[in-house]
Amino acid sequence: MSNCVLKLEHLHKSFGGVEAVKDFSCTVDEGQIVAIIGPNGAGKTTIFNLISKIYQPDRGTLALGGVDITRKSQIETARMGVSRTFQNTRLFAGLNVLDNVKVALDFDGKYSLLEAMFLLPRRWKREKETTRRAMECLELLNLAQYAQTRPSNLPYGIQRRVEIARALVSNPKVLMLDEPAAGLNPEEVFQLVDFIREIHGKYPQLAILVIEHRMDLVMNLSDYIYVQDFGETIARGLPADIQNDPLVLKAYLGEEE
Ligand SMILES: Nc1ncnc2c1ncn2[C@@H]1O[C@H](COP(=O)(O)OP(=O)(O)OP(=O)(O)O)[C@@H](O)[C@H]1O
Ligand SMILES: [Mg+2]
Repeated sequence: MSNCVLKLEHLHKSFGGVEAVKDFSCTVDEGQIVAIIGPNGAGKTTIFNLISKIYQPDRGTLALGGVDITRKSQIETARMGVSRTFQNTRLFAGLNVLDNVKVALDFDGKYSLLEAMFLLPRRWKREKETTRRAMECLELLNLAQYAQTRPSNLPYGIQRRVEIARALVSNPKVLMLDEPAAGLNPEEVFQLVDFIREIHGKYPQLAILVIEHRMDLVMNLSDYIYVQDFGETIARGLPADIQNDPLVLKAYLGEEE
């Protein structure tokens, strides 16, 4: 029996007159890779923004591991195990790779500013622990060699991986990747797909949601695919079924009926 991690039911989100997401439902199981594909403006990123609580849905519900998170805040949702990357790289230019990853561990810090000032030994201990966890994650993902390097001095493909490492270091239940291959050259795209497979192998419980613009990329990566167009799910199914779906081809190629 599969174990459902994320369950979205009848989500709606409008911006003014634009219905960005219309009645979106989806389940993601433990260890599953689910892709959301569709043309520009289809509402893919909005779905991620609803899951990570950047936006609240107008209607519909979200549950994480059976717990209703519909009204939870962004920070609560993150603490409960929802992690993501963004369509545009958002690494801190002034920090090295290690510190960029450590940033993601600071939100669950239990220390107030006062404690930080007066309980230095405890703070040091925590700092050591944060460094250890971040290094462990970088090592697991074969990125340790870049720990002391600034992201801007690294190829874009590596920067993307560092971002993913940062999303993973908090040990989430759900990892959401928004167009991780955007801006990569063909060689880097291949490597990224391998990297995601590697993560899948090393974090077998982790549910991965990936947004992609390009169909070919997700075809042999994902277990299940949702195809969005103008806010609606126009198809859903196994990669092989999606590939030959006439509605999908029409959305992508803009064919006449
Ligand atoms: N904060 C916002 N305010 C107003 N409109 C928005 C907002 N966010 C998204 N939209 C609109 O909602 C629709 C869906 O946008 P969204 O970014 O979710 O699409 P997408 O599928 O991720 O597209 P892309 O492939 O270009 O990234 C678009 O028409 C967009 O302009
Ligand atoms: Mg988008």
